[in-house]
Amino acid sequence: MSETTIEPRQLILPMFVREGAREPIAISSMPGVYQHTRDTARKAVAEAVQLGLGGVMLFGIPTSKDPVGSGALDPEGILNVAIRDAVSEAGDDLLVMSDLCLDEFTSHGHCGVLDSQGRVDNDATLEIYAEMGVAQASAGAHVVGPSGMMDGQVGVVRTALDAAGFTDTVIMAYAVKYASAFFGPFREAVDSSLRGDRKTYQQDPANAREAIREVDLDIAEGADLVMVKPALAYLDIIRQVRDHVNVPVAAYNISGEYAMVEAAAANGWIDREKAIMETLTGIKRAGADTILTYWASEAAQLLSHR
Ligand code: PBG
Repeated sequence: MSETTIEPRQLILPMFVREGAREPIAISSMPGVYQHTRDTARKAVAEAVQLGLGGVMLFGIPTSKDPVGSGALDPEGILNVAIRDAVSEAGDDLLVMSDLCLDEFTSHGHCGVLDSQGRVDNDATLEIYAEMGVAQASAGAHVVGPSGMMDGQVGVVRTALDAAGFTDTVIMAYAVKYASAFFGPFREAVDSSLRGDRKTYQQDPANAREAIREVDLDIAEGADLVMVKPALAYLDIIRQVRDHVNVPVAAYNISGEYAMVEAAAANGWIDREKAIMETLTGIKRAGADTILTYWASEAAQLLSHR
């Protein structure tokens, strides 16, 4: 009689790939998640295919960063290399998705470039995002995920992709992204150099109507699917967005949500596997068509044993 079910194809595995790594590096705030080497990333992609996941979302960790995030545009930059590796491993058996944002590549850790007064410069950043989208599509990404919350980012990326002949490359817009404390462990995961916060470009957790406005703008600009992020403190937003749009809705079960369950389970305070499946079921029930989760591969295994 269960109304809500989860299938492996509805899960997307976010993965971190570290330039120059010789062995996988554990992320202490996310037990069980690693900064992959190119080789272990390929293996994780192959496993994701075998488990029937819908996709992988790739993040790159470069060895050097600069104020404009040049590593993001370089075809030999770690993220573009990781995309090529994933595509050569998986072909079209799952969707290779890439994070389209500068924060892993900038020395200041912001999602965009800064103006002379140190503020994030929205429009200067858009020009770089457009090039970054083309670089990722050239590397073979099936789906690009603009996640920097710059106004107009979906439109410029769509225009640039089309102009470069990548008319079939899909845009998954991080449409609704709140300035959240739950991103904490991710900052360790990508060796973030951010000081301060992202409140000038990410949303106020108190705002729900603003989420609908962000979604409408992104769809008008050409988003093929829209994401709500984080998931757990925003289940009402996932539901409102699902009821409002006619494109697929993704939800990102983010690092802090993962860390809370893992930490409580490590202390023996909750049943880990039950908590994982209940978390994913709740996000699905709220209206997500697809879930990005660090538990994707494990959850697919648990589902196959049911
Ligand atoms: C931006 C980006 C972030 C996450 C995904 N893409 C970090 C941020 O906006 O601060 C967070 C993912 C997570 O916490 O699991 N590149």
